Amino acid sequence: MPQRTLIVMTVSLFLLAAPRAIAADDAHSHGMEQKGMSDQTLKQVMQGIQGDLSRIIYGVNVDNMVLVAQGARGIANHPMPKGGMKPYITKNADKLPAMIPKMDEMVHQSAVKIAGAADAGDRDALVDHLSTMIKGCVTCHQTFR
Ligand code: HEC
Repeated sequence: MPQRTLIVMTVSLFLLAAPRAIAADDAHSHGMEQKGMSDQTLKQVMQGIQGDLSRIIYGVNVDNMVLVAQGARGIANHPMPKGGMKPYITKNADKLPAMIPKMDEMVHQSAVKIAGAADAGDRDALVDHLSTMIKGCVTCHQTFR
């Protein structure tokens, strides 16, 4: 194959691949899209989240900000249950489309803020965001669980 053809092919391949790479990168910066679909049921995802929450609370109580940040990032990046939320919800299922993004956002944003506060060693802010996050857990459970 002449070298010029090879170069043209390489450049075309790059041009084809570039928008996809950019799109993937863009999705990465958004909380919702970042969560990959997993093989876990909603219950398993929740059990993982509960473990992360325990880590945060343990970290707060022993003043270990590394543990707090780890737990918070675990929640912020929690996996999506297999098939999304819908298959697992029976109670108030009609409210799902309106409420789930709001609830999820409340928990997600708080988790990101907890991680930031832990990194900064800001314990007051951390506890405020933790309280908001737990309200998010409880509100969603009251509605859908
Ligand atoms: C978007 C709604 C929603 C949010 C937000 C949410 N949960 Fe859940 N959670 C559920 C639902 C629905 C169930 C019931 C799942 C089932 O039984 O299949 C559940 C179940 C659970 C369970 C029980 C698991 C089991 O073994 O039965 C735990 C623990 C839990 N969630 C922890 C949390 C914590 C901690 C948070 C906040 C950091 C949270 N959840 C936020 C919807 C939510």
